[in-house]
Amino acid sequence: MTSEQTHVFIKNDNARVLLSEQEIKQKVQELGAKISEDYAGMCPILIGVLNGSFIFCADLFRAITIDCEIDFIKISSYGEAMETSGVVKLKKDIDAHLQDRHVLVVEDIVDSGLSVNYLRKRMERVKPKSLGFVSLLLKEGAAQTDFKIDYIGFSIPNHFVVGYGLDYAQRFRNLPAVYLMDEQVL
Ligand code: PRP
Repeated sequence: MTSEQTHVFIKNDNARVLLSEQEIKQKVQELGAKISEDYAGMCPILIGVLNGSFIFCADLFRAITIDCEIDFIKISSYGEAMETSGVVKLKKDIDAHLQDRHVLVVEDIVDSGLSVNYLRKRMERVKPKSLGFVSLLLKEGAAQTDFKIDYIGFSIPNHFVVGYGLDYAQRFRNLPAVYLMDEQVL
């Protein structure tokens, strides 16, 4: 897609909006309120999973009204492709000490479940006091996890989506809403 086509994709293809800015905003506030209630007095540490979750993570962090901290891990398994490579690569590790902390991993999307399974195993090794997962999006019927995601924003159909942090080949992360990525525009 050229940058001109990207512009058209953003400006004119409203039919492809899956989740509007307003819907996302409201959901993030709800998730923040619920997490604030559940973790009151526990000073949880949020672990944002880069790159995809950086926008959701920033908004969620500000929707949380209790004391909390944040750190980031960077992993990748999709590269430039629309399907998972099946291998999670660690690109940047966490700096914070998570032992005996209440840890809440923040994902933008759980698709195949490969990333959250990897993260769970990795986090469990450092023995946090509790380990939870929040994901803005969960692909219906696609995710293979042997544990439940504690907080889910939206269950979505099994289509490729971009926007609000989610990319196709590193692009479209800056779209304010979540869009269905139609193969025709690629
Ligand atoms: C995306 C997304 C999740 C993961 C979900 O990351 O941010 O971390 O895929 O897919 P899965 O459930 O099939 O593992 P990606 O590897 O594309 O890297 P990115 O966050 O830098 O876009």
